[in-house]
Amino acid sequence: MPQDTSAKIAALKGRMRLPAICAPMFLVTGPQMVIQACKSGVMGCFPATNARSMDDLRDWLKQIAQAVRPADAPWALNMITHNSYGRFAQELELVAEFKPALVITALGGPHRVTEVVHSYGGLVFADVNSPTFARKAIDKGADGLVLVCAGAGGHTGEYAMMPFIDEVRSFFDGPLVVGGGIGSGRAVRAAEVLGADFAYLGTRFLATDEALIGQAYRQMVWDSTMEDLIASRAITGALGNWMRASVEAAGLTSETMQATAKIDFSQDMHAGSKAWKHVWSAGQGVGTITKPESVADVVAALVQEYGEGARL
Ligand SMILES: Cc1cc2nc3c(=O)[nH]c(=O)nc-3n(C[C@H](O)[C@H](O)[C@H](O)COP(=O)(O)O)c2cc1C
Repeated sequence: MPQDTSAKIAALKGRMRLPAICAPMFLVTGPQMVIQACKSGVMGCFPATNARSMDDLRDWLKQIAQAVRPADAPWALNMITHNSYGRFAQELELVAEFKPALVITALGGPHRVTEVVHSYGGLVFADVNSPTFARKAIDKGADGLVLVCAGAGGHTGEYAMMPFIDEVRSFFDGPLVVGGGIGSGRAVRAAEVLGADFAYLGTRFLATDEALIGQAYRQMVWDSTMEDLIASRAITGALGNWMRASVEAAGLTSETMQATAKIDFSQDMHAGSKAWKHVWSAGQGVGTITKPESVADVVAALVQEYGEGARL
């Protein structure tokens, strides 16, 4: 790993109680989840697209930048870099202004943000779901990778975590984040043992008090297990894990769920589509989430389990 990158990673980790990122979740993560994650000791990250308008995004970034102090864990921004995503240029201007320590690119290459983020000393990680995309992201200048593995919430990967890390580690020695089914501090520790620098946890934070979801979604998370999920490309075009009860409530048939939708980010991401608003996603770790918790409660549990994992 380049010396400069490893110094930056060490500096980020020095501000964290455990090497975990509260992963970005569409329509779920807002400024409070990010702030509470950082205050509790893990990196908070939100998808820029969660803010409905550019004014809202500026307001969220202001709240986060003011609340997250140097003694807190750092915060990161998740950006869609797909060519069809209309707000990209405006979001990049806000990145230059608010300078997140880390920008995680998704659904497109990292090269569109590296110049700006590197100019203020930040890092760019690319979210990838295969070794091929991992190589492409490195070629396009990513400092690090987020390996989204099988079992993840949202758009899931299809490769199992262990061989995926091993294969990527055979050609990349830079910073690695891994996600997909990590739901305990022991699993965070295990991800490190496997060769990752950070664990990426979405579903574990999905039903927390700070999540911007309604009570029915929370209840479905508490009630669901891994066997209640349907993996399908029908909702957004990319493979996602969806809770069966929400699929049925939205009136979708198993035939519909076998289709593949067209990927398109050119429309207003918040406007009337069934995807995400009515069909609710969770990852395979959903079965262990059974009760109301705050982000701080979850991080406290993770820290305790992480310590126990070290003693095994
Ligand atoms: C409801 C939900 C929405 C998500 N939305 C996004 C998103 O907007 N952008 C993104 O890069 N990843 C998104 N993800 C994926 C997470 O960032 C992360 O990769 C995943 O949650 C890790 O797997 P886990 O859920 O098993 O912890 C989402 C996940 C969930 C559960």
